[in-house]
Amino acid sequence: MKDKNSISNVLKVALGVCLVCAVVVSTAAVTLRPHQEVNRNAFRQLNVLQAAGLWQPGMNIEQAFENIDHRLVDFDTGEFVEFDESFDPVRAARDPAMSRPLGDDPAGIGRRANIGEVFMARNDAGELIRVVLPIHGYGLWSTMYGFLALEPDLNTVSGVSFFEHGETPGLGGEIENPRWQEQWVGTRLRDDSGDLAFRVSRGPTPSGVSDADYRIDGLSGATITANGVEAMVRFWMGDEGYGPLLARMANETSATEVF
Ligand SMILES: Cc1cc2nc3c(=O)[nH]c(=O)nc-3n(C[C@H](O)[C@H](O)[C@H](O)COP(=O)(O)O)c2cc1C
Repeated sequence: MKDKNSISNVLKVALGVCLVCAVVVSTAAVTLRPHQEVNRNAFRQLNVLQAAGLWQPGMNIEQAFENIDHRLVDFDTGEFVEFDESFDPVRAARDPAMSRPLGDDPAGIGRRANIGEVFMARNDAGELIRVVLPIHGYGLWSTMYGFLALEPDLNTVSGVSFFEHGETPGLGGEIENPRWQEQWVGTRLRDDSGDLAFRVSRGPTPSGVSDADYRIDGLSGATITANGVEAMVRFWMGDEGYGPLLARMANETSATEVF
């Protein structure tokens, strides 16, 4: 009689188990991918709404998003380009055919995609009430991804959200803290002469400083992350980021109607 515990039998059983497990894991990975995509998209939409201050618990994300125009902009010209449902900003930033390396790279992102997303929120009368801009930049450990929402004056921050990063919880991870994010509301980006004045203080902003309108408090014990946040906001609001789009919109006599 054949020995059930022979080496060849043990190997056959082990191989069989491996094969079955591999099939189960790959099937799960393939079948769950569309659900993951849907959830990832819903999570981004939720963060756009949160940054814009248009989110209330219990809302239906899809419905709330109906008043938001999702558009694509050419960063260099500031002109909108044809919308492409399949556009993936992260993939675009990595693809040499869809991005370019940055010489001056204060946000530590290496390359910038040629095209970027813009979310325009409108009220029921169709007037522009928020412009939400995706931003990303390097902190201490990771690339931090967020949304910065602007009032129709295109200079006053109406909110911020950070939805993906690998900073340390309790230190750099405090960028997610709603209490820290609250102080962004009403902060201005450019001063009266049009220069970018936004900055993140090292620790709390000292009282009485003349540029308090443009500053938010730093994160104690996480100055490197906070510096990364400052650099990314300044980069994305500047000439290499959304600067050309914002300048073009500001030049229109009635931005709220035109866009
Ligand atoms: C385990 C560990 C994790 C840290 N995580 C962060 C972080 O996520 N962001 C950050 O800016 N600093 C982090 N730091 C602290 C930095 O090394 C640095 O000390 C700090 O950014 C300086 O900020 P401060 O001047 O406010 O103390 C971490 C330090 C340690 C030991």
